[in-house]
Amino acid sequence: MIAVVLILIMKPGPVSAAWSVTFKNPDPCALKGASVEFRCSYSYPETENVLKTSWYKGCMKDGHWKRVDLSVLPSYQNRSEYLGDQQHSCGLALHNLQDNDTGHYYFGLETDKYIRQSQDSVFLSVTELNVRVSPQRVRMGDNVKLECGMSCEPAPSTVWLKDTQPITNTEFQAQADDAGTYVCVVEGLESVNSHSVTLDVQYSPLNVSVEVTPPGLLAVGSSVNLTCSSAANPVADNYTWYRATASTSITQVGSGPVLSFPSMEESHNGVYVCQAGNHLGENNSTEVLLTVGRTDIYKSILIGIGVTVLLLLLLPLVIIWIWKHYRKSADTEEHSHDYENVSASHDYENVTTS
Ligand SMILES: *[C@@H]1O[C@H](CO)[C@@H](O)[C@H](O)[C@H]1NC(C)=O
Ligand SMILES: *[C@@H]1O[C@H](CO)[C@@H](O)[C@H](O)[C@H]1NC(C)=O
Ligand SMILES: *[C@@H]1O[C@H](CO)[C@@H](O)[C@H](O)[C@H]1NC(C)=O
Ligand SMILES: *[C@@H]1O[C@H](CO)[C@@H](O)[C@H](O)[C@H]1NC(C)=O
Ligand SMILES: *[C@@H]1O[C@H](CO)[C@@H](O)[C@H](O)[C@H]1NC(C)=O
Ligand SMILES: *[C@@H]1O[C@H](CO)[C@@H](O)[C@H](O)[C@H]1NC(C)=O
Ligand SMILES: *[C@@H]1O[C@H](CO)[C@@H](O)[C@H](O)[C@H]1NC(C)=O
Repeated sequence: MIAVVLILIMKPGPVSAAWSVTFKNPDPCALKGASVEFRCSYSYPETENVLKTSWYKGCMKDGHWKRVDLSVLPSYQNRSEYLGDQQHSCGLALHNLQDNDTGHYYFGLETDKYIRQSQDSVFLSVTELNVRVSPQRVRMGDNVKLECGMSCEPAPSTVWLKDTQPITNTEFQAQADDAGTYVCVVEGLESVNSHSVTLDVQYSPLNVSVEVTPPGLLAVGSSVNLTCSSAANPVADNYTWYRATASTSITQVGSGPVLSFPSMEESHNGVYVCQAGNHLGENNSTEVLLTVGRTDIYKSILIGIGVTVLLLLLLPLVIIWIWKHYRKSADTEEHSHDYENVSASHDYENVTTS
């Protein structure tokens, strides 16, 4: 707090004591786009009556400092708001602060006897948030730090947002999805004061996958493409295709993002893997099995038909065989009784006689 002695400028008459203006926040600091309030009170002899109060800005004009009434400065017209009265309060609010609002502000009043202006001033600093992401470009897993501050004290509390979500940790190990734009805002002034920084997270290919077109059953002679895709930053620029079969070991069969078979042959059957790479490294897709020729469904249909035909052919034979067998066993049974008795007694005789 400072008490400021008023300078008497004009109007004749006796000089009276007890003139003062008190600026309660003499060097405020505020953010561009935000509002600031100069808290201010004044006193004057009871014998005078206040006719008019004014705020002035110290402006450089023709090489000289001049105090210019805010009411005549067009750029302040819609942004300044007198919060005081004509008694003892002289507060002023400035809204939507601009960089060139930085400077000295003076209070003045006109009574029926004197025009006075404060000798000292309120010094306003309009500042912006200092935002930084370090480093700006990282490899996945590296440490990243977000910093947001203000040159003046006390600094308002700020928060970092990414895609409108608040960031709780401003120091972290970068992951692929941490890449993007971060915005620092002053709490309560989210719409006015936002400053953004961009983080680039680089990584070797992830989620490498192979798409087979056309999907589904592959016929001999058809055109088939294997397309390799991946998530990588920078994008993968090196593709290598490998193939393995039951009889051969892993061999390199192509390069480039698409492995094309203009005409599929059974000799193309096998397990395929795509390796995608950028300057940071490589990663493999999961294995894709390629089979052409008679597919399982055709096989089942063929087997189904075969079995049916076989059954239809065999059925009469089976019926005949069963019928013959039945007849034969029926005949045997008719004679078996005698035969059994005979043979049994015969055996017995043989045993006892020997
Ligand atoms: C102040 O606001 C009025 C009404 O909104 C507008 O007509 C005028 O142009 C504004 N003046 C300045 C200096 O922005
Ligand atoms: C401050 O800058 C704004 C534009 O940014 C301009 O319109 C205005 O006249 C300037 N005010 C002064 C006092 O120079
Ligand atoms: C990889 O795939 C997983 C699961 O689908 C997904 O959560 C992740 O975001 C992907 N990674 C990248 C870098 O796209
Ligand atoms: C390969 O990608 C998978 C996810 O798709 C990931 O878990 C793995 O760490 C990657 N390997 C390398 C060497 O980058
Ligand atoms: C495979 O790719 C080639 C060349 O890119 C294209 O001419 C052909 O139509 C594609 N075949 C299929 C089945 O997508
Ligand atoms: C592409 O990848 C292969 C296999 O990893 C490697 O030998 C080759 O040097 C890479 N080429 C480029 C241009 O990076
Ligand atoms: C991808 O698979 C091929 C064939 O199995 C292998 O030679 C290569 O080392 C693998 N690459 C990675 C990054 O695992």
